[in-house]
Amino acid sequence: MKLIETANYETMSQKAAALVIQQVKSKPNTVLGLATGGTPVGMYQYLKEDYEQNQTSYQNVHTVNLDEYVGLSKEDPKSYAYYMKNHLFKHIHIPIEQTFLPAEEQGDKYEELIASLGGIDLQILGIGENGHIGFNEPGTPFASKTGIVQLAESTREANARYFSSMNEVPTHAISMGISTIMQSKNILLLVSGSKKAEILYRVLTEDVDESLPASILKTHPNVTIIADQDALSVLK
Ligand code: F6R
Repeated sequence: MKLIETANYETMSQKAAALVIQQVKSKPNTVLGLATGGTPVGMYQYLKEDYEQNQTSYQNVHTVNLDEYVGLSKEDPKSYAYYMKNHLFKHIHIPIEQTFLPAEEQGDKYEELIASLGGIDLQILGIGENGHIGFNEPGTPFASKTGIVQLAESTREANARYFSSMNEVPTHAISMGISTIMQSKNILLLVSGSKKAEILYRVLTEDVDESLPASILKTHPNVTIIADQDALSVLK
C-alpha cells in the first residue's frame, strides 16, 4: 500500500486527478470505477478543468460507479446518477452510454457487466467514518458481491446533509461488493479531513477484519491512499 500525504483537500484532489488522467492517457479504453460523496468532488472539478484545457479524451473510457440509492430515480438531484452527470460526465464529453451505475434490479448483472468490460482498471474509493467502502458497512463479508445493502444509521446521518430531513434519506442502496472492489487492478483511496483521521488510523494499524471493511485493502497489491494532513493527524 502506498501512502501519499498532501497538505490539504485541494492538493489531494489535484494529485488524484493527475493519477486518473495518467491512467486514461496510458490506456485510452480504461475502465474507471467511480465514487460519489463529498470527497471526490474536488478531483472531478480538476478533471473538468483538465478537459477544458487539454481535451484529455474519454471517448473510449467506460465508468462503473460503486453504488446508488434504492428508491430514487436517476433524475432525482439526490441520486448518484444525477451527481455523476453534474460533477463529471457532462463536463468531459464521455459517451453517456459508456457510464454505468448499479440499479436496484441488478446485482449479478452488474458483476457480468464489469467482467464484460474486462474488469476495473482503476477504482476510486472514499471511506465512511465507520470504515465502509462502497456501501459495505462493518460486518459485510469480504466475499460479498454487488447487491442491495442496508445503510447503517451513522451512514444515513452522515449523508443527511444532502437531504432536507432524516426521513428522506434512503435506508438501502445497491453497492458493489467488497470482492468486486478487490478485483480492481488498481485502487485509489481518497481521505480528507479530521473527521476521517480516527478511521484512517484504525485501517492502517488494526488487523484485517470484516468489522473494518477498508482493512481488506491492505491485502490488495496495488492500493494508493492519498490523504491530507488533517486525515493523517491521529497517525502522527
Ligand atoms: C460513495 C461511497 C461511499 C463514500 C463514503 C465517504 O460512492 O461509496 O463509500 O465514499 O461514504 O463519503 P464522503 O466522501 O461524503 O465522506
